[in-house]
Amino acid sequence: MSAPGAAGGVPVLVLKEGSNRSRGKEAQHTNIMAAKIVAETVRSSLGPKGMDKMLVDSFGDVTITSDGRTILDEMDIQHPAAKMMVEVAKTQDNEAGDGTTTAVIVSGELLNKAEELVEKNVHPTIIIDGYKKASEKALEVLEKIATPVDVEKQDYAKRVAMTSMASKLVAEYREYLADLAVKAILAVAEKDGGKYKADVDDVKVEKKTGEAMQDTKLIQGIVLDKDVSHSGMPKRVEKAKIALLDCPLEIEKTEFDAKINIESPEQMEAFLKQEEDMLREMVDRVGKAGANVLMCEKGIDDMAQHFLARKGILAVRRIKKSDMEKLSKATGGKIVTKLDSITADDLGYANLVEERKVGEDKMTFVEGCKHPRAVTILIRGGTQRIIDEAERSVHDALCVVRDVVEEPKIVAGGGAPELEVSRMLKKYAETLPGREQLAVRGFAEALEAVPNTLTENAGLDPIDVLSDLRARHEKGETWAGIEVISGKIQDMSKAGVFEPLSVKKQIIKSGTEASCMILRIDDVIAAGKMKTPPTPPGGGPPGGGYPGMGEY
Ligand SMILES: Nc1ncnc2c1ncn2[C@@H]1O[C@H](COP(=O)(O)OP(=O)(O)OP(=O)(O)O)[C@@H](O)[C@H]1O
Ligand SMILES: [Mg+2]
Repeated sequence: MSAPGAAGGVPVLVLKEGSNRSRGKEAQHTNIMAAKIVAETVRSSLGPKGMDKMLVDSFGDVTITSDGRTILDEMDIQHPAAKMMVEVAKTQDNEAGDGTTTAVIVSGELLNKAEELVEKNVHPTIIIDGYKKASEKALEVLEKIATPVDVEKQDYAKRVAMTSMASKLVAEYREYLADLAVKAILAVAEKDGGKYKADVDDVKVEKKTGEAMQDTKLIQGIVLDKDVSHSGMPKRVEKAKIALLDCPLEIEKTEFDAKINIESPEQMEAFLKQEEDMLREMVDRVGKAGANVLMCEKGIDDMAQHFLARKGILAVRRIKKSDMEKLSKATGGKIVTKLDSITADDLGYANLVEERKVGEDKMTFVEGCKHPRAVTILIRGGTQRIIDEAERSVHDALCVVRDVVEEPKIVAGGGAPELEVSRMLKKYAETLPGREQLAVRGFAEALEAVPNTLTENAGLDPIDVLSDLRARHEKGETWAGIEVISGKIQDMSKAGVFEPLSVKKQIIKSGTEASCMILRIDDVIAAGKMKTPPTPPGGGPPGGGYPGMGEY
């Protein structure tokens, strides 16, 4: 590539050959276009009437989902600006756990409005400033309209969980699953100075095909996708005292190559006996501590398994580190690194440890723990695709329950909060000078994409619905929204559609951040080899490709 100037007729080469560069409005336009395409892709999956997507990866594995983050993850997006939209979904998922589709749609719409303003010669930095102001104001309004709730006395936690699952494949069972999600989070939540803290990772979600969704269960303990390691061991131990070990029950091999010269059969026998004695001693240590169950992160030698079986100890080996940590939290046991130091105090407790056949496989249940700080939801369902989507939906449900438990404030859904914020922002815009006013107005209009999309996906006419909704909000009906199941405009708080305030706040934050970041770019320099141009998902204009996009 040559620099704009040329020294004495000779072009000055700055970048490597094959590099591509696009600048100014062209770069902006391309980036915005790419981001908008991504938003367009997930648009049709928003809300209870949204459609699912079937995604096939390069190995031919099929995923059916309406979860924004999963759709974008599976799409394997190439364009750098489009990748930033994937980041929006990721951030939203990590911070709030739900609202990923909405966050991407809002970002796309913010960019759409920004592009309109750029065409009107409003400079991107002014738009960015306006968006930042608007976003602060939006968060303020959300905070103001949100309703504080008491998660212990009221059932709002269950309701938010039900709303989050209303738009998923498992919607039919949402009441049942929401109940499990609430119980699970409340079981692992810890109260500190009147405030709850809960970690979704303390709820293990296991899945197995077979039976039906209603057979999904909450276990007050941990379910391991592993069987008992030796056939001679008990398969069921009541009042289990559990040793948690992260060292192997094997004779360690030396790090160096060592040679032992054995010259007679007696020496051989003595050598083997010594090994056996060492293993026996290890098992004795576990027995002496009083354990009747052994959970081991590493391997257990065959001989040691045999000794354990003879002592009537149930043992499971090669357990994942993360599961060991959960076992420790559930049973109250300590993970022991050196067998020499194991004592009765290190043991955990569970009412029952049992190997059971679940579907085709054997699983080990550690249940009836006294005060488990980690629990398991075992998902059952007819096919692999259903339980995969159920796992993602349960994850969303657990996250929203955590959100309200940690910040007990809710808003109603169905586009009501977005419309209310939009209305207030339009008022706020009037107090601002000149072009910034346009940016804040643009932000306000972008938020209307949420009720708009919900309405479109329900097969209703967005123009009629939106004008009616705006009028109602103007009259002071804060929670007027579109209930898509009945297809009617109504007070969404009466329809029982609630969402955590933190999800809505995060949507504003991640949407603003991503759109501003994309807007700030006015120069795209792509180094090196030409890659195959990305095919736009969901079909693009005939002939494929967008101006400038073939460069990546
Ligand atoms: N019965 C309902 N009527 C109208 N809107 C509803 C109803 N139930 C849920 N919604 C709305 O649907 C939206 C959520 O849809 P959805 O769960 O598909 O997307 P998301 O939460 O943004 O993303 P994801 O769940 O993929 O992370 C919210 O705006 C919520 O208020
Ligand atoms: Mg959702």
